[in-house]
Amino acid sequence: MTDKLKQLSPAILTLDDKNYSLPTLIGIEGEKAIDISKLRSQSSYVTLDEGYGNTASCESAITYIDGEKGILRYRGYPIEELAENSRFVEVAYLLLNGELPNSRQLLEFSTNLNESSIIPEDMHHFFNGFPRGSHPMGILATMVASLSTFYPIPDRLDTVTEQQIVINLISQVRTIAAFSYKKSIGEPLVYPSYKLKYVRNFLNMMFSSPVRDYQLDEDIVRAIDMFLILHADHEQNCSTSSVRTAGSSMANVYAVASAGISALWGPRHGGANQQVIQMLEQIHADGGDGTEFINQAKDKNSPSRLMGFGHRVYKNFDPRAMVLKKQCDKLFAKAGVSDPLFDIARKLEEIALKDDYFISRKLYPNVDFYSGLILRAAGIPTNMYTVLFAIGRMPGWLAHWREMLHSEQVIITRPRQIYVGEPLRHYQNIEQRP
Ligand code: SDX
Repeated sequence: MTDKLKQLSPAILTLDDKNYSLPTLIGIEGEKAIDISKLRSQSSYVTLDEGYGNTASCESAITYIDGEKGILRYRGYPIEELAENSRFVEVAYLLLNGELPNSRQLLEFSTNLNESSIIPEDMHHFFNGFPRGSHPMGILATMVASLSTFYPIPDRLDTVTEQQIVINLISQVRTIAAFSYKKSIGEPLVYPSYKLKYVRNFLNMMFSSPVRDYQLDEDIVRAIDMFLILHADHEQNCSTSSVRTAGSSMANVYAVASAGISALWGPRHGGANQQVIQMLEQIHADGGDGTEFINQAKDKNSPSRLMGFGHRVYKNFDPRAMVLKKQCDKLFAKAGVSDPLFDIARKLEEIALKDDYFISRKLYPNVDFYSGLILRAAGIPTNMYTVLFAIGRMPGWLAHWREMLHSEQVIITRPRQIYVGEPLRHYQNIEQRP
């Protein structure tokens, strides 16, 4: 336990007429916790908290969220200030190292990312093995895990190797994403260029071609960079918890990153951005303004949900949604850039925020509600949206992996359960069975 956690007076728990004293702790932002690490050994009781909504899995110094107040900070810096003033590579450095880089550190980090952006040539053949139409998240999870076969990791990780692994993953996740897109449209691969910085390099690999020039639009570059900043970390979300769990067994870090990608793929997590656009496209195709869809989303018997709305932690506006909405306003105010789906999204938000169903359940737009519109404006295909989320989240996953690896004790994640199955019974030969 770090010295940042202060002890409060113990909590007294009475179980079966016996009192148990449990330590209580407070974090630097006033978050309080009951330390139950000795509960089972003292009382034979475990706690039950499905989805862990009331359970802190670890101490962390990386990101702070206050869901009630709509606060999000990376290493103490408000997300709004970072989105406005910083760039993704600088934010990645901040999350990984705890401090904003000086100019020498930033140049070194950025140069190392560029020099590590080529994936091993032998990996190109893997792309040919995927069937046409494979979802890019399936390709990404597979290819990232296969990096472990090209970059063997020593049992005892030294600092230099650890740093290079982090650089490889943050840089090459982008190359793999762009290559999987090029393969999916049957175009030749475009290699990373040492002349281009992180986002420009990615967009160039995605959209340039030996026979077609690709002009980088600075507003699009800025919008994608901001998208990546906003997705870079979010404390113990589903995919980051998956990274910490896989990492706690000391698994190969490329496989651990692949575990994060796989968890992110789900439509209730990172897959929501793709679902939002498909929802908006459906409403547009139906010619509606969203009113009918909202009624379906409220109907318990309907499978529809208002994708991009609601959050396990934010019971107020997701600050990232506010930043993205402003970015959409700016992008779509540009001459010649308009999108009817943006108008539908704003209408849905306007209706939902006045509707008691959403108000009473504290359902507000989350990061995914507007993010897909930015990617659409950049020409990113819908099935690549969660891939972009994974590119953004990679520094956050790795920052948590490193924080866990360097914690006082790397404890393997192994929750308990409450058994509700069959009581003891004995084997019956097949002739004796009904
Ligand atoms: C991300 O954790 C993170 O930090 C994640 C993330 C990150 O950066 O890593 O922020 C990224 O995953 C954002 C969330 C993206 N997912 C979606 O937009 C999918 C749509 N949202 C829902 O599936 C839902 O809101 C969740 C999964 C996000 C949160 O679910 P909760 O907190 O477990 O809420 P719940 O499922 O218990 O729902 C509470 C009530 C229910 O109604 P009642 O049973 O009380 O009548 O709210 C309803 C739900 O039916 N509800 C919705 C709804 N979300 C919840 N009803 C309609 N539309 C919705 N979107």
